[in-house]
Amino acid sequence: MPIPKAELHLHIEGTLEPELAFALAARNGVELPYADTGALREAYRFEDLQSFLNLYYELMAVLRTERDFDDLADAYLARAAVQGVRHAEIFFDPQAHMARGVGMGTVVEGLWRALGRSEETHGVSTRLIMCFLRDESAESALATLDAAKPYLDRITGVGLDSAEVGHPPAKFREVYEAAAALGLRRVAHAGEEGPPEYIREALDVLGVERIDHGLRCMEDPGLVERLVRERVPLTLCPLSNVRLRTVDVLADHPLPAMLDAGLMCTVNSDDPAYFGGYAGDNFDAVRESLGLTPAHLRTLARNSFLAAFLSDDEPRRAR
Ligand code: ADE
Ligand code: ZN
Repeated sequence: MPIPKAELHLHIEGTLEPELAFALAARNGVELPYADTGALREAYRFEDLQSFLNLYYELMAVLRTERDFDDLADAYLARAAVQGVRHAEIFFDPQAHMARGVGMGTVVEGLWRALGRSEETHGVSTRLIMCFLRDESAESALATLDAAKPYLDRITGVGLDSAEVGHPPAKFREVYEAAAALGLRRVAHAGEEGPPEYIREALDVLGVERIDHGLRCMEDPGLVERLVRERVPLTLCPLSNVRLRTVDVLADHPLPAMLDAGLMCTVNSDDPAYFGGYAGDNFDAVRESLGLTPAHLRTLARNSFLAAFLSDDEPRRAR
């Protein structure tokens, strides 16, 4: 029995498995520049975050209708449930879809079809977190927040993702202020490839409650001390870090040092279709490669529920 856990760092578009990509391509009459699923999997060799993002955005072309987003989310939730996920906070990237003529309503309502029945069908409670693409403009982020206004009953929070270096959090001050005024929770990717300073900025300028990745905090002892003191959750993604070459091999991952330092770490899958594993696979991998003890794994699982955007009246089994 896999340990019950919450998944807090998961891009729904990053759960698009090659088989589903080809099925959706056929259904929608989209031509993919790969002969078959094997050829597509061959392309899953990344140099860095940008080389992954290029493929991630390219494959999104197959997602066109509400039914596509429903199928995508349902497939993820089924896999996550088998791996012990009881609660999932799911990122989506509306700008990447709207740029292709797929509307906010299609994306949110499609995802919601699967999320709305997930407790019943998979035993997984869910939240939706809308991410802004940090390599797009602040104006585009504001327009995206505006487009989401009719759907705010379905959206719990906002996040910040895509190419990090050169796109510091402060660029999005205004849109995060507007999101906070709408009652939305706030998170942001920071310190994946970007410097520790971006983590400070995400906290101080954007007012985020969790840091997605945050790996590079380890270069700045003063920042580590602050993150420990303020109990800021970090949503780490170990297999992602290896595939995107943020760490050379899993055995070098700083997770044990981060736990020893007292950081509030969680383990997540990021883009599991691309990085070789879902949440449970990430737990298994860190247990095997980093020698984490059962106590460490229990801490990681407990942290995931403590850091989740769950309210007190939600099912106890989720905590
Ligand atoms: N979008 C999807 N996965 C991402 C990641 N690991 N970092 C930044 N943006 C992303
Ligand atoms: Zn991510």
